[in-house]
Amino acid sequence: MKRVLVTGGAGFIGSNFVHYLLGHTDGVECLVNLDALTYAGNLENLTAVESDTRYHFVKGDIRDQKLVDNLFCEHNFDTVVHFAAESHVDRSIEEPELFLTTNIVGTQTLLDAAKRHWKIDPEDKYSREYCEGVKYLQVSTDEVYGALGATGMFTEKTPLQPNSPYSSSKAGADLIVRAYHETYGMPVNITRCSNNYGPYQFPEKLIPLMIHNACNDKSLPVYGDGMQIRDWLHVSDHCAAIATVLEKGKVGEVYNIGGNNEKANIEIVRLILQELGKPESLITHVKDRPGHDRRYAIDNTKITTELGWAPAYTFEQGIHETIQWYLNHMEWVERITSGDYQKYYRDMYQKAQQP
Ligand SMILES: NC(=O)c1ccc[n+]([C@@H]2O[C@H](COP(=O)([O-])OP(=O)(O)OC[C@H]3O[C@@H](n4cnc5c(N)ncnc54)[C@H](O)[C@@H]3O)[C@@H](O)[C@H]2O)c1
Repeated sequence: MKRVLVTGGAGFIGSNFVHYLLGHTDGVECLVNLDALTYAGNLENLTAVESDTRYHFVKGDIRDQKLVDNLFCEHNFDTVVHFAAESHVDRSIEEPELFLTTNIVGTQTLLDAAKRHWKIDPEDKYSREYCEGVKYLQVSTDEVYGALGATGMFTEKTPLQPNSPYSSSKAGADLIVRAYHETYGMPVNITRCSNNYGPYQFPEKLIPLMIHNACNDKSLPVYGDGMQIRDWLHVSDHCAAIATVLEKGKVGEVYNIGGNNEKANIEIVRLILQELGKPESLITHVKDRPGHDRRYAIDNTKITTELGWAPAYTFEQGIHETIQWYLNHMEWVERITSGDYQKYYRDMYQKAQQP
């Protein structure tokens, strides 16, 4: 039975993963979600698991060493799945420092706590022996590889050439994870996935933003010519891949996770308009952002052949379901865009603690 620390479990992928792990495996004894509830964290994503006695929410920062250490003492974790990050490229261009401290220093703080608690003899700097069955999994991104031209795909051996403050902070974190494995023998895996889509994505990202604007007959801002190509992965396929790597991933290895769905941004925007019955005249081309990578594509041969994972969703099925999900959860979207979702924590947690 696993005792799992999930960081960033109130965000898009993290909350889907919490649902996935509690719903798909009966091998979880305890799951603690450590999340600072930045603008991207929304506890409303997790109302369905709040009554599960295995689930615990802790509001806190991954950079808070004392807090992380206390959580390890209290819950005796054997597994860490690290999602928490500043994740929006546009914001990283405005505020790089926040991305470096959260994404790099935050990762190092978690690794350090895991090393202290999992190493059989933490005082012996030469020992590489860890408790049985422990693992740290770093959720990274294909953006660490930089951009591709019209052909080629990222493999796990592609050199890291990140182009934005966001992707370079993720690459820095990956290198620290690698160093903890090489230097201290920490049992780690790194997963690098392509663009995710699905339920509970914060409506600053392409797909939910376009659905929301189209539904409100607002213009749909598309960067440059819209020909930036991404390899789209349904979030539930991503969650299944992470669970597979936790279970079967060879210690110290990196696994790429991709959905085999290369689409240009403009294609996706047109598809959304078509499905919603809205006119293409809503599309407005805006000035491209600096350093905007042109194309990403993941070669997922390693995870499919070595670990037996494969994406279950086709893009057509996934995008249709996703559009329907947002249409059925417009209140959820409205509460985020109006900022109301931030009251949820105060109402549910802080008021509940008052005598
Ligand atoms: N969304 C994608 O398409 C995508 C693609 C590749 C990789 N990733 C990676 O997956 C992970 C999750 O991405 P997401 O899209 O769910 O992100 P998100 O922005 O939706 O969620 C991030 C979560 O981390 C929390 N957080 C931020 N700073 C924190 C801190 N200092 N301490 C504790 N919690 C903090 C936020 O409150 C939020 O709940 C990230 O590491 C991201 O780099 C995402």
